[in-house]
Amino acid sequence: MDFRGAHILSVKQFERTDVDRVFQVADAMVPYAHRQRATRALEGAILGNMFFEPSTRTRVSFGCAFNLLGGQVRETTDVKTSSISKGESLYDTARVISGYSDVIVMRHPQTGSVAEFAKASRVPVINGGDGPNEHPSQALLDLYTIKKELQSNDGQIDGMHIAMIGDLKHGRTVHSLSQLLLLYNNITFTLITPAELRMPEAIVSELKQAGHTVIETEDMEAGLNDNDTIYLTRIQEERFTTKLEADIYRGRFRLNQSIYTRYCQPNTVIMHPLPRDSRAEANELDNDLNQHPSLAIFRQTDNGVLVRMALFALILGVAEKVDDSARDVGWYTGGRF
Ligand code: NCD
Repeated sequence: MDFRGAHILSVKQFERTDVDRVFQVADAMVPYAHRQRATRALEGAILGNMFFEPSTRTRVSFGCAFNLLGGQVRETTDVKTSSISKGESLYDTARVISGYSDVIVMRHPQTGSVAEFAKASRVPVINGGDGPNEHPSQALLDLYTIKKELQSNDGQIDGMHIAMIGDLKHGRTVHSLSQLLLLYNNITFTLITPAELRMPEAIVSELKQAGHTVIETEDMEAGLNDNDTIYLTRIQEERFTTKLEADIYRGRFRLNQSIYTRYCQPNTVIMHPLPRDSRAEANELDNDLNQHPSLAIFRQTDNGVLVRMALFALILGVAEKVDDSARDVGWYTGGRF
């Protein structure tokens, strides 16, 4: 695909070579994300970061990624404080904000809303999550993380075994990640969910048609066995009609140190898009795994900055120019990476 000027709305836009290209540029972003070097590649450029649903990681990491490339960020984080609350259409908002920005990231509660917004936008739009539908940048950073983690176990994406656990009906991250994995070969998916929160049938049949193996189960203990990666998710309570309805499923599937040791293969990579619901009644991923070497959740969030930098660099056509204006940074950067 031609990244320059492209909207990123769905993982379905990507060929395997496009994913490789994003990962290659993401790798080149390490010195900048790790504060060894600074660049002015996007000096003067403005990101319109429009979040009409709660977000911490996605919003802040897109913002940081843009800043790290030398650009500036303008944010709208609430429907209440934006003109959408006065009845403005997505069309008008898109026409206006795209006059102010060079690229826009948008999150919105409705399926298809970001695509509708992109049609009216005069600049590229990245889907930061449209309701339960898709979250393409998360899928890219998840896959980038899987690739790195498996490489350090001498494994690879083709042929891997992955378990996805929790609310696979409403979770847009697992919808996007599994559809991105359609580009790879011979993967075994074990989908561990309550019967009511199963992965949409359309996605399951696409996976099967592409030659992957899909096992659907409510038996977590059996399902945890024999995976390279397990990907936990939160019950997406905001997608239920009432909180009470979500409460039925909260805490149904939990991973902690003793369950991991008992049922998972050693070195099984543990992932979660975050936020994890750490309230006692949910606690799908226990804090007692925080020091576990296979817990990749914070490497996942760090990788998000690299992948989002790569997307901006490619879309705005500066991927080859990032090093031109590079300099060493002058501030104390500590040992966090
Ligand atoms: C996810 C989301 O918003 O879809 N969070 C994220 O972007 N990392 C997952 C979630 O909210 O459970």
